[in-house]
Amino acid sequence: MAVHRRLFRRHISPLAFRFLQTSSCCRNVMPAWVIDKYGGNDVLRLSKNASFPVISYPNEVIVKVFAAGLNPIDVSMRGGYGAATLSMKRDPLNINQTGMEFPLTLGRDVSGVIMECGLDVKYFRERDEVWAAIPPWKQGSLAEFVVLSANEVSLKPKSLSHTEAAAIPYVATTAWSALVNTGGLNKDNCANKRILILGGSGGVGTFAIQMLKAWGAHVTVTCAQNAERFVRELGADHVVDYTTGPVEVPLAALEKFDLVLDNIGGDTERWALNLLKPWSGAKYVTLVTPFLQNTDTLGVADGMLQTAATVTSKALKHLFKGVHYRWGFFAPSGPALDEIREMVDAGQIHAVVEETFSFAQVPQALEKVEKGHARGKTVVQIKKGTDYV
Ligand SMILES: NC(=O)c1ccc[n+]([C@@H]2O[C@H](COP(=O)([O-])OP(=O)(O)OC[C@H]3O[C@@H](n4cnc5c(N)ncnc54)[C@H](OP(=O)(O)O)[C@@H]3O)[C@@H](O)[C@H]2O)c1
Repeated sequence: MAVHRRLFRRHISPLAFRFLQTSSCCRNVMPAWVIDKYGGNDVLRLSKNASFPVISYPNEVIVKVFAAGLNPIDVSMRGGYGAATLSMKRDPLNINQTGMEFPLTLGRDVSGVIMECGLDVKYFRERDEVWAAIPPWKQGSLAEFVVLSANEVSLKPKSLSHTEAAAIPYVATTAWSALVNTGGLNKDNCANKRILILGGSGGVGTFAIQMLKAWGAHVTVTCAQNAERFVRELGADHVVDYTTGPVEVPLAALEKFDLVLDNIGGDTERWALNLLKPWSGAKYVTLVTPFLQNTDTLGVADGMLQTAATVTSKALKHLFKGVHYRWGFFAPSGPALDEIREMVDAGQIHAVVEETFSFAQVPQALEKVEKGHARGKTVVQIKKGTDYV
């Protein structure tokens, strides 16, 4: 089977050939930050000999990474979060050609240039500048190259540098999946809708504020007092400080909401659904779910059963009170990024890069993400300029 799939691998393209010619080192390896076991930042290793990605399916593309955005999931995955489910989903051909889980490369966001296309790839060509959010079961972008399915990739916004572009895909496709696919919102039905974002100052929040404002919604945000100006500049209409006391008290005094996007979790479920307009189709969508934690602790089968039982009972309980309870998940999507690109190039959404690190500083970049208190995104610049060889 593996041999059959590998037959799809295309001859080497002129662009890739030129790259191989101009490159001094042996090109079946590349530099990448990898982990060989789960743990703290000390498990990160800069490998000069990571496997060079290969096209194993005809719809795949190889992207030269110019910038990689980091997310809290990189820190979680470094520690083993989701290992049970993600290992099950990992394709040996795409992970490291040995079928082994390690060495594993982190990094879910990429902005770069297509170096090679599989035989069935029609929409992209070599040298296209692209951005993508990489599913957590694939090798990540803290490397010189990454292989992706063409349907996960989208042309990069022309108005953004690679560093800026790498700040958007993972949080954008997560917010899109939560707000559009799960929450039922779109550019034509948001006018005058009241939306509450719990946790507006981080990666998902800063993107969601801008997208909802572009669609005409009224957006209320919770954040720390020192982030108020920051979220207002992104468009938030009303800001509630969560640091001075129980945040549900000032929120309960406000007009009720059509949708709550919860980026915080914990005890928020105890009170956040009471803030919705009952019997009006209003929805609570949380991004903080126990799904991967359940499969890590109970095993995949029992974890999935436990997860299904939990979400069903909560959804039913809240349905009887006239509101909808939903879980939101990241979903890789080139088509969603195509729509987001238009909003970015129209000036409706800006990249919010809090700090940029060099490739040599990946451990410091992950340390920064791990400390929390994000005000936008942390990005690793892997290649300077726009030249792809
Ligand atoms: N389900 C999925 O597929 C999925 C996908 C992406 C993200 N997520 C989850 O979604 C959450 C948000 O992700 P992110 O990338 O936006 O994280 P992030 O960039 O780390 O941002 C989190 C933000 O929340 C603020 N915050 C912390 N406690 C708060 C509170 N009680 N009330 C209001 N704000 C608070 C933090 O700043 P201060 O601490 O300074 O206030 C920070 O700005 C994370 O839990 C992440 O794991 C889930």
